[in-house]
Amino acid sequence: MQGQYQPGEEENKNTKAPEGYFDESFDIFRNFVPPTIDKIMAIILGIESSCDETSAAICIDGEIYANVIATQEMHAAFGGVVPELASRAHQQNIVPVVEQALAEAKIGKKDLDAVAFTRGPGLLGSLLVGTSFAKGLALALDIPLIDINHMQAHILAHFIEDPKPSFPFICLTVSGGHTQIVLVRDYFEMELLGQTLDDAAGEAFDKTAKILQLPYPGGPLIDRYAKTGNKEAFPFPEPRIPGLDFSFSGLKTSILYFVRDKVKEDPDFINNNLPDICASVQSRIVSILLNKLRQAAQETGIREISIAGGVSANSYLRSELFNLGQQEGWNVYIPKFEYCTDNAAMIAMAGYFKYLAKDFADQQIEPLARWN
Ligand code: KG4
Ligand code: ZN
Repeated sequence: MQGQYQPGEEENKNTKAPEGYFDESFDIFRNFVPPTIDKIMAIILGIESSCDETSAAICIDGEIYANVIATQEMHAAFGGVVPELASRAHQQNIVPVVEQALAEAKIGKKDLDAVAFTRGPGLLGSLLVGTSFAKGLALALDIPLIDINHMQAHILAHFIEDPKPSFPFICLTVSGGHTQIVLVRDYFEMELLGQTLDDAAGEAFDKTAKILQLPYPGGPLIDRYAKTGNKEAFPFPEPRIPGLDFSFSGLKTSILYFVRDKVKEDPDFINNNLPDICASVQSRIVSILLNKLRQAAQETGIREISIAGGVSANSYLRSELFNLGQQEGWNVYIPKFEYCTDNAAMIAMAGYFKYLAKDFADQQIEPLARWN
C-alpha cells in the first residue's frame, strides 16, 4: 500500500469537500468502521463518466466506502442525452465528485493505491473526461491506472454486497445501450450468449416514453405509471428471434403506430390511458427479457441467475424475476437500486479485482466508444 490509512485523518486537507457539497443532515461517518491498518491491502478510486452520470467511489479491500453520483438533469429537456452537454457537465462535476468521495471515505489522495476508470463503451467525449482525469491523477500520485469495461462492471456490481453469485452464473445485462445475456465464468472471463440485434431494452423504455410525451429518461417514469395500470389492457406482440438474441425495434414501431392510431380517434387517448399503456409495454419488454433468460438457463443448465444495468432497477422486472426464480428453482441475484444504474462503485469494485491480478493500463490508453 502506498501511504497508510490513519484513523482520525479527517482533518487532512485533501479530504475537504467543496462548500455546500454535504447534506449536513446526513451523518456520513455514523456507520464508518475503518478496517484495521494491517488489513488494508488496496484503496481504489473508481471513476465513471460514460454517459450522463459523473460518479466517483472508493473501494477499500473489496468494500465500498463512498459512492458519489452527480446526475445530469439538463438532458430531460432535450428528450435524450446531448453528448456535448454531457462532456461539459462531466468536466464541471469530476473534481467535486472525487473530492466528496474521498471525504466520505475519510481518506486523502495520497492514500490511494490505484485509479480505475471507465474506458468504454459510452459517449466518447464523456469517456475522455474520466480517462484524462484518471490518467492525470495516477501520474501525479505515481500509482497504477486500471481501465474498466462498463458492461463488465455492471456485472461485477454483484460482488459489492452479499449474497454474491457463485461461478459460473448467468447475467442479463440491460442498460440504455445494451441488452446482453452473459455467461460469467470468472471475474473477467465472460462469454456473450446473446444480445440485441437493434434497440436495447432501456431504449425501448425511453423511446416509448418519448412517444407518450414523457421526459427522458423514460424508464423510471414508465415503471411508476405502470404500477396502477392493467398490463393486459393492450397486448403488444412478442418478436420471434432465434437463439438468445433480442430485438426491440418491432415492438417500438408497433407502439408508435398503435398510439398514433388511437390518438387520431381520441386526442386525449394518452392522458386517459397512461397507466394501462405503460403497464402493457413494460409487461411485454419484461416477458421478452425473461423468456430469453429462461431459455439461457435451460440451455446451459446454470441455476445461478442475475440481472444488472439500469433496467434492472425496474420494479416489475425485479418482482417477475424473483417469481420466475422460485418457480424454476434458481438462486436469483438482484443488485440494490443504487448499483443498477450507472455508478462508480461498480468501477471501483472491478478495479479492485484487476488490482489484485496486477492488470494495469499504461498512460497511452485511450477511451473506446464501442467495446465488446
Ligand atoms: O445502466 P444505465 O444507468 O446507463 C447505461 O449504461 O446505459 O441504464 C440507463 C437505462 C435508461 O434507458 C433508463 O430509462 C433505464 O436504464 N432505467 C429503467 C429504470 N431505471 C432506469 N428502465 C425501466 N425501469 C426503471 N425503473
Ligand atoms: Zn450502464
